[in-house]
Amino acid sequence: PTVTVHENRIDASLPTGESVTVYLYGATVTSWKLATGEEQLFVSEKAHLDGSKPIRGGIPVVFPVFGPPPKNHATSSLPQHGFARNSYWEFLGKSSSESLGNDTRKGDDSVVLDFGLSSAMLSEQFRKAWSYDFGLVYSVTLFKDSLRTSLRVQNQGNQPFEFQFLMHTYLRIKDILSIRIKNLQSKTYVDKTESYAVKTDSSPAVVIMRETDSVYQSLDPNVPIIVASSEDDNPIFSIFREGLDDLTIWNPWVEKAKGMSDFGDDEYRQMVCVEPGSVSCWQTLDAEDAWESGQTIRSGH
Ligand code: BG6
Repeated sequence: PTVTVHENRIDASLPTGESVTVYLYGATVTSWKLATGEEQLFVSEKAHLDGSKPIRGGIPVVFPVFGPPPKNHATSSLPQHGFARNSYWEFLGKSSSESLGNDTRKGDDSVVLDFGLSSAMLSEQFRKAWSYDFGLVYSVTLFKDSLRTSLRVQNQGNQPFEFQFLMHTYLRIKDILSIRIKNLQSKTYVDKTESYAVKTDSSPAVVIMRETDSVYQSLDPNVPIIVASSEDDNPIFSIFREGLDDLTIWNPWVEKAKGMSDFGDDEYRQMVCVEPGSVSCWQTLDAEDAWESGQTIRSGH
């Protein structure tokens, strides 16, 4: 594998042609291409890539709070979705083998990029707003047909802290009207477009035809989420989760898109956010303890 370290981003590719780009700002993956050159992630043409604003697209890392922080909580003074997506991370290095359970892949078949963020690296403003001692290691692994992103959270202080975590993945699709999302049948979700109403939907697949902001809870970790073509039902993406039982589905649709300065008016048709996370309650991490989770996105089935 080839890894090129730029001032603001890391590019990596496999000998077979697959590639990935990760910005140090937010450790945001902004590009994942297959050997054919086909881009799998959506990044808005209006996205800011200069660190002035979280990157609109790719895979922003949401930590330590999802959405607007609640009142009277340790995260209350943080911005929406926390500080990880708008802090500069450091590149810790690469390795080119990865063991996934029994399946050990070595050499040219994969490359792992590790990124770190710790309390000492935060801006003064963020550190004041959330003053725990923590260390994050975010690993991005490029395989031939898939991309894995995983996070290790470490409590390096002497008191417990609470956090939420989510990977805000923007998947690139040909047309929002030609996909459906499977394996969410009869699952409970909170509809953020309708004042956080709690709902269940018995239809076999989620079809997106309006503004959608649904937070599904307590999903079976062993069941992948499938983004499939509504024409022939072929899978476009399969999303596997490790330790992440919640999932947000988001599409801003017409009006919200118009209201976002870093998102084109018609771009909502080319994207859907499928966001594995741990957000419906708080993870408590004791002093000196660590927590790990991840997602693997496979192109196709
Ligand atoms: C989603 C949230 O995950 O992110 C939405 O559920 C939110 O409510 C969206 O609008 C985008 O958030 P932001 O802060 O990147 O505009």
